[in-house]
Amino acid sequence: MCGIVGYTGGENCIEVLMEGLGHLEYRGYDSAGVALQGPEGVERVRSVGPLASLAERVAERNGHLSKLKVGIGHTRWATHGRPSELNAHPHTGREGSVAVVHNGIIENYAELRDGLRERGSTFASETDTEVVAHLIEEYTAAGLSLEEAVREVMPRLVGSFGLAAVSEREPGVIVAARRQSPLVVGFGEGENFLASAVQALLGRTRSFVAVENDEVVVLTSRSVSITTLDGAPVEREPFEVDWDAGAVELGGFPDYMSKEIHEQPAALRATLKDRLALDGTVSLDLAGQGLDLRGVERIVIAACGTAYHAGLVGKSVIERLARVPVEVAVASEYRYSEPVGDGKTLVIAVSQSGETIDTLAAVEAARGFGGRVLAVTNTRGSLITREADAVLLTHAGPEVAVASTKAFTTQVAVMQMFALELARVRGTLPEERLLELGRSLRLVPEKVEETLAALEGEYAERLAEAVEVFEDARCALFLGRGEAFPIALEGSLKMKEISYVPAEGYPAGEMKHGPIALVDERCPVVAVLGEGVVREKTLSNVDQTSARGANVICVARSDDADAKRLSRVVLPVPEAGGLIAPIVDSVPLQLLAYGVATSRGLNVDKPRNLAKSVTVE
Ligand code: F6R
Repeated sequence: MCGIVGYTGGENCIEVLMEGLGHLEYRGYDSAGVALQGPEGVERVRSVGPLASLAERVAERNGHLSKLKVGIGHTRWATHGRPSELNAHPHTGREGSVAVVHNGIIENYAELRDGLRERGSTFASETDTEVVAHLIEEYTAAGLSLEEAVREVMPRLVGSFGLAAVSEREPGVIVAARRQSPLVVGFGEGENFLASAVQALLGRTRSFVAVENDEVVVLTSRSVSITTLDGAPVEREPFEVDWDAGAVELGGFPDYMSKEIHEQPAALRATLKDRLALDGTVSLDLAGQGLDLRGVERIVIAACGTAYHAGLVGKSVIERLARVPVEVAVASEYRYSEPVGDGKTLVIAVSQSGETIDTLAAVEAARGFGGRVLAVTNTRGSLITREADAVLLTHAGPEVAVASTKAFTTQVAVMQMFALELARVRGTLPEERLLELGRSLRLVPEKVEETLAALEGEYAERLAEAVEVFEDARCALFLGRGEAFPIALEGSLKMKEISYVPAEGYPAGEMKHGPIALVDERCPVVAVLGEGVVREKTLSNVDQTSARGANVICVARSDDADAKRLSRVVLPVPEAGGLIAPIVDSVPLQLLAYGVATSRGLNVDKPRNLAKSVTVE
């Protein structure tokens, strides 16, 4: 939440900052702002609303701003104080000589503010960040360098921060620091960069270093120094990011969500590549990373939101194939639950961003009882990769739309490969059966392609009709059983987060225990039939809802006559078999939520109140 960017070098700084903020807007879009070092001191431009409003303000002054070479920028997801220009970052100290951008929460800001007030500060905003700017400026005004000032202030802050500061007293210098909130340094020739995430800088550099907790960074155009809070120098090998800059461009799509839905076949291919051989053999190289699966007796999957749903599919497939008990925990609950475990417990932390604060805390909790940790993430070098014993990357490429699509389906594919590997290690299934399942998974990219092509080609009218069913929906129920249940949950999450239709995901068999009371013609029922034994049971639950007037939309295999008989619309998916039904079944639900949201004229990439990376509690 909140995105930070910084630049010092010989280029037009405002251009670099605006480009970087554009790629970070997914982290928050309540307001945005920049501060640049100018001849007359620190110059700020801020604006409420999306980055486009800031761009207009900048354009008014661009002739002047484009000459400046050093600055910091911020895109905000409001925590303290409503979205307004006064609450937009950067914030300045009492004299306006220091500007600060911040991602995180300063928990003791009220106490710090009282102290500052007693010493004569007045505050322009309701934010927690402004106290940091005032504190740093107190020290620089007393003669400390910006670096020394940041070092003095850090121990006084309780909470989380990724922050960057510039001072008019030190031209060319940016000082940054972090605790819990992410921060990376990007290296250039005669220029250096800073950002909350590598996506911001892909058009500028591929070489990055991640800043660790309680480290201080001093950036000039020619040097980068990273030190611990005590001043000890930190030497860390830069890592290279192989995402190209085009990966964060729209490339002809109307928005990122539709681009990312269509990128799923490629994302799945990249995720399976080198891990799933032609004959169906899975090799994840976990032992090579020091994670021995032989001693694992219990698994906990900790995650949030969409990643939690991928974890639910993971539980089902791991238990079915590898016969190890799996608990799936909402990370924000798990972290405070005094979790039980030991060295034989493997905690799998699933996180697209790799920086979700609750998932990171769940990892810490696992460490507390001596558990081993496997991270499943889309972000190389992210915080979670550094806390884990082993990492399985989903190679989905950058996901920009707030609503997760390709990250989800690739997470599911990774969980399925993991289940196959664990089953092999434990010898729970005959080798030939494992290979057969592995081979089925290899087909998933084509099956997703087929699903997309059909729903946008010969079955486009059905999708349009399903969207129409939602025209005046006041709520919706998403139903499924077995592995189709997490897919129903995920479908309901997509629907509520981008179209704002209250949508509940339920195990189909639970309907009669309460939620069926919601059913009428304005509460569509979306059923994911899935395959195998659960299909028929789900069908009979669906029957119970249509008998009560529900408009039923079924996600079903193309030739499913029962589904046709019972529902108003069938969204067809190809015959899947093996492991791949959950991934293929997700696609129509993504398109449905997308269709409903766009038919209502909503911004699918930036739904209200949300941010993509949840780095605060
Ligand atoms: C919903 C969505 C969120 C995230 C959740 C966890 O579409 O994207 O529910 O899944 O915030 O984020 P990560 O996976 O980055 O930990």
